[in-house]
Amino acid sequence: MNQPIFRAPRGTFDLVPPRGEAMLAVRDAMAAPLRASGYGYVETPSFEETRLFARGVGESTDIVTKEMYSFTTRGGDDVTLRPEGTAPVLRAVLENGLHRGALPVKLWYSGSYYRYERPQKGRYRHFSQVGAEILGTEDPASDAELIVLAVDAYRSLGLSGVRVLLNSLGSSESRPAYRAALQEYLRTLDLDEETRRRVELNPLRVLDDKRPEIQKALAQAPVITDYLSSGDREHHETVRSLLADAAVDFIDDPRLVRGLDYYTRTLFEFVHDGLGAQSAVGGGGRYDGLSELLGGPRLPGVGWALGADRTLLAMQAEGLPLPGRVGVDVFAVPLGDDAARRAFGLVTALRRAGVAADVATGGRGLKGSMKAADRSGARYAVVIGSRDLEQGVAQVKDLGSGEQEPVALDRLVEHLRVLLA
Ligand code: HAM
Repeated sequence: MNQPIFRAPRGTFDLVPPRGEAMLAVRDAMAAPLRASGYGYVETPSFEETRLFARGVGESTDIVTKEMYSFTTRGGDDVTLRPEGTAPVLRAVLENGLHRGALPVKLWYSGSYYRYERPQKGRYRHFSQVGAEILGTEDPASDAELIVLAVDAYRSLGLSGVRVLLNSLGSSESRPAYRAALQEYLRTLDLDEETRRRVELNPLRVLDDKRPEIQKALAQAPVITDYLSSGDREHHETVRSLLADAAVDFIDDPRLVRGLDYYTRTLFEFVHDGLGAQSAVGGGGRYDGLSELLGGPRLPGVGWALGADRTLLAMQAEGLPLPGRVGVDVFAVPLGDDAARRAFGLVTALRRAGVAADVATGGRGLKGSMKAADRSGARYAVVIGSRDLEQGVAQVKDLGSGEQEPVALDRLVEHLRVLLA
């Protein structure tokens, strides 16, 4: 047998059935609470001007310095495959003037994202997110709403092991004093050259350094919670109490930081222990200054993105069955050419009537076709032999019980609809 010469690029993979359906089901479950809560659907291009991410996500972040798929087009434009969705969605809001209409603007999206990361379990170069953003309000109820909707989405998939980590990074009222205090502390540590540079450039990022020796040294570091202004503290307390009202458990994590620079105040991550090192199944936060960074007016925002690939892995880690269904309810088995023509019309009519149906093709015999019927997941097979045709009937076989009965061909669609209702 010939070996295939092409493979999916490193860090990417194909989704074939039934995993393909499982991924669709995961995305649907993430979107369902949003669609039922007043969020409109937005779709932006898979690539953007490179500067959008450099500005929006932050020049010194890992994403921008190491992980972007950037290239110059034939026309000389510098573009990047989107590594995340928030900067593009905000760009689209500003460009389309949505912020000039009624506020807040609530949006959701779903799509592919690209990061040139070192591939490992749960970390891919092409991955799938469902995201949500609320723009034009500082109301802490929006922050809480988003967290509740994410928790409800995970619950609806049957997941029980997702934990919510919560922090506030403070606004421009609180951050400078904290940044200075953290910097002062970090400068006393014995750190390598690159980390020392990070201390000067972006000290909060050092909190995210996973190396055990750094984590140990950070145990004594000042925490943001002690530096929050009264306004920021009140905002954070309101988010916390609204979550409690909604019976959402969360863990206060004053050292939580995330790999994107746009965050202000509320910051959260959804983590799962079944995934190994890549434990974040989703995350987000508030970004009250991003619009201005992108040249827009003041437009505070908050949002999240949930990782569909990692959520599916978390479901497997909990032993949950793959969600989503492959297959049909009815499978037609014609025997002979005349029956095949009749079956084609019948299956078309069933599909048009909203019944998921398929038909054996290629003139297979009864045995092969019945095997195909079993594989299809159908509850009923409709066998049409030449004698059945003469009598104007088909045999409807219940594939669970094995029982079979003749049904008039012109009543078949209605009959099956009733059986399946
Ligand atoms: P993020 O934390 O970079 O946030 O990504 C959100 C989720 O996407 C992660 O928690 C993870 O589940 C998934 N993810 C990220 N990178 C990978 C990867 N290489 N392989 C597999 N899954 C991955 C954002 O992207 C922000 N835009 C979220 C946000 C929206 N903040 C405010 N609004």
